[in-house]
Parts: sequence; structure tokens; C-alpha cells
Amino acid sequence: MPGPLWGGRFGTSPAEAFERLNASIPFDVRLAPYDIRGSIAHARMLGARRMVSEEESAELVRGLEAVLGEVESGRFSWELSDEDVHTAVERRLRELVGDVALKLHTGRSRNDQVALDLHLFVRDAAGRIREGLLGAMLALVEVAEGHRDLILPGYTHLQRAQPILLAHHLLAHFEALKRDLRRLEAAREAANVSPLGAAALGGTPHPVDPALTAAQLGMEPFANSLDAVSERDFALDLLYACAVLGVHLSRLGEEWVLWTSAEFGFAALDDAYSSGSSIMPQKKNPDAYELMRGKSGRLIGDLNALLITLKGLPLGYSKDLQEDKEPLFDAVDSVLAMLAVLPEMLRTARFDGARMARAAGGFSLATELADFLAGRGVAFREAHTAVGKLVRRCEELGLTLEETPREELAAAHPALENLPRGLLTSEGSVSNKESPGSTSPRSVKLQLEAARAFLDEQARGG
Ligand code: ARG
Repeated sequence: MPGPLWGGRFGTSPAEAFERLNASIPFDVRLAPYDIRGSIAHARMLGARRMVSEEESAELVRGLEAVLGEVESGRFSWELSDEDVHTAVERRLRELVGDVALKLHTGRSRNDQVALDLHLFVRDAAGRIREGLLGAMLALVEVAEGHRDLILPGYTHLQRAQPILLAHHLLAHFEALKRDLRRLEAAREAANVSPLGAAALGGTPHPVDPALTAAQLGMEPFANSLDAVSERDFALDLLYACAVLGVHLSRLGEEWVLWTSAEFGFAALDDAYSSGSSIMPQKKNPDAYELMRGKSGRLIGDLNALLITLKGLPLGYSKDLQEDKEPLFDAVDSVLAMLAVLPEMLRTARFDGARMARAAGGFSLATELADFLAGRGVAFREAHTAVGKLVRRCEELGLTLEETPREELAAAHPALENLPRGLLTSEGSVSNKESPGSTSPRSVKLQLEAARAFLDEQARGG
């Protein structure tokens, strides 16, 4: 097929520089499998509604399946002059089945076609990210289960605050990822609408059946043809889900960057998940976790890029919408690349429990003393002040709370005289928590069971 699809009206072929700017084929070629599946559904609908004969419909479907085969085996080749994936597929179809290919575009426009392709891509991507996310969540649970006794400091202001179980900490990340899963599911559902049959924007005089096309793709049909070609909310939903997931991974990543530093020394990554320095032979760097921090910025950028493209855009197709693809592809690729690494990287890391425990003790136990007093009827504010003074006194004496003699405790507040010494240990402190969802071993056990039950339910397709 010489020249572009719309060439009929034009006296000359496009200038090369314009062609280069205008073409989406270098990046939208990855939509080819979705484009072809959509065209197969459309071709069947054309036959069912007698817009083409049954033989023609069958021939179109056969030809499209052949093109799909070429795409899947990597034999499909495109030209810049194809402009976009839709044109490339149609060009190849005509080469394979001849002029019957010219009937495929009846009752359809590239506007509803590209919108459909993107819906299918988002639906598929949300599903794949979901799988990756479940893998990371399972790894968090397994690592938590495998290290149920380890205690590390919980931080506020990055200052040691209170001892917590490592399992509790890992499960906090699990909860965040669980919410990401819900956002992905929402994006998947929003994407599961077929715009085919909307044509350019206002529908078509041909007797198309959008519900029939949609049903073949396992989708719902659109309600309003103008909305169907104009909206990209479903892509925003996925980009938002990716951006929030990226932010979650960046926070986890930052913690691992800290934990694996010599200053913290809480954990070490397996060699397979670290890299070295080209100049400093001793270096072992947590690059993957740094990239999780780094790529989160890019994911926020991808969301922003599409929001800004859509802002103020009048309804109906505008070429601006061609800019929806690259941020979306970039976000999906980035998220999948991170999720491919995370589970094994978590599983193969080693923890230095002794070092964590040392960091978790000390003045991090001060709240325990204040809570003990409050439990003995001392007003919490009063208890807080008394223990604050005690901490200052200990600092003067160069003692930790555990080492402080009973007289000093009693001097700080008489009720501290009978303090069970076991409370002044990290183990005592975590076990002493009674509240639901807390860091006590009992509560963490329940959280682990709930996490397992959640994952089992997901595996059963829940
Ligand atoms: N390449 C275009 C895109 O990605 C396909 C739709 C073109 N539609 C049009 N009316 N020019 O958005």
C-alpha cells in the first residue's frame, strides 16, 4: 500500500522530518498483539453483522492470525512510512490476503482502535504487575517467618525510637503492597472497557455491534462514543498505581541502603544482588535498592506526563494523545524490572541479628518505663518527665537503662522500685505490647497468619 492511510486527499507524500516527528511506529509496535486481537474481534463482528461476507470475515481473521504469528515470532517488520502500528498491521494484512484487507476498517477509526489497544495493554500490564507484586509480598512473608525472633530499632526522625520485631517491620511493607494490589485491580477494571465501535468520535452509520466486539475480548462495551475515544483515565489509574508502588519500593529501598551500610550493619545483600566499584575494591553497593529509590522519581514523572498531556485537551482525538504511550510503557517496564529482582534479593539477604539487637536496646526502652509507671496509676505526662530525667542521669553516669542500679530507678520515681527487670530488654519490650497490630510476637503471629491467608486467597483467584 503506497503512502499513508490518509494519502487520498494529499498531493505529495509527507516530508521526511515531519514523518519522523509524526510516526509512533518506533514505540507503538509493541501494541501489535493487542491491535491484531482487536482487529480479529472486529473482523468477526463485521461478518456477524453482514458488513462483510462470512468468507471475507474468515479470510480477514486467517490473515490477521498469520500477522500475529509473524509478530510473535519476531518476523514482523515495520517501516517508518507505516506511521503507526495500525497502519503497519493493515499493510502486512493486505500483502498476505490481498484487497479484502481494505474492508477491515469499515465502521472503525484509528481513534477507537488505538484506544482499544491501550485498554488491552493496560489490562494485561496490570495483571503482570499484579503477579510480580504477589511474588514480592510472598518473599516479605517468608523472610518475616524465617526471622521471627530478630529485633531491630523502630525509628522516628531516623532516631532510635522503640524496639520492634523485624517481622513486624517487613509486614508493614506487606500492607503497603497489599494496597498497591487494590489500586492495580482498580486500574485493570477501568481498562476492561472496549472503545471499538465508537469510530472516529460520533459512532458510525454501519450496523456495528460494540457489545459483540467487546464480549470477544472479555470486555464491557463503551457507553458514549466521544468519551470512548477521548478518555485515558484507565492509563492514569495504572500510572498512579505504579507511582505509588514506586514510592513504596523507594522507601523499602532506602531502608536497605541504610541497613546494609557499615554504620547500620543490620543486613548484607547476596553478591548476586550487589555491585562493586571500579576503583574501590572493598565496595559492595546496594544498586538495586538505590534504583528503587531512583526509579520512583521517574514513575511519578510518567504519571505527571500523562496528566499534563490530558489537561485542557478538548474531547475528541488530538494527536497529543499519541504521547500517552511512552510514559505508560516506561512505567510498566520499570515496575516489572524492579519486581523481578525484589523477591530473590529479599530471600537471599542475611541479617546480623546481634547487631540489630544491640541497636534496639539502650534508651529505646525508655518508653517502656514511662508506660510501666502509667500502668501503676502515674499520669503519663508525669511518668514521661520522670523517665526523661532518668535518661539524662544515666547519660551522666555513662550507663544504659539496663545497667542502671535499682536505687537510681527508685530515685527517678518510687514506683520504679518494683520494675520487672525483664521489661528493660528489647524482648521484654516487644512482648509487653498488647494492642492489636502491634509488634508483640503474639500480634505478629496473627499478622503473619493473615498475610498467608491473603496470599492463599489471591492464589485461588480471590
Ligand atoms: N498513532 C496514533 C496514536 O498513537 C494513532 C491514532 C491516530 N489517529 C489519528 N486520527 N491520527 O494516537
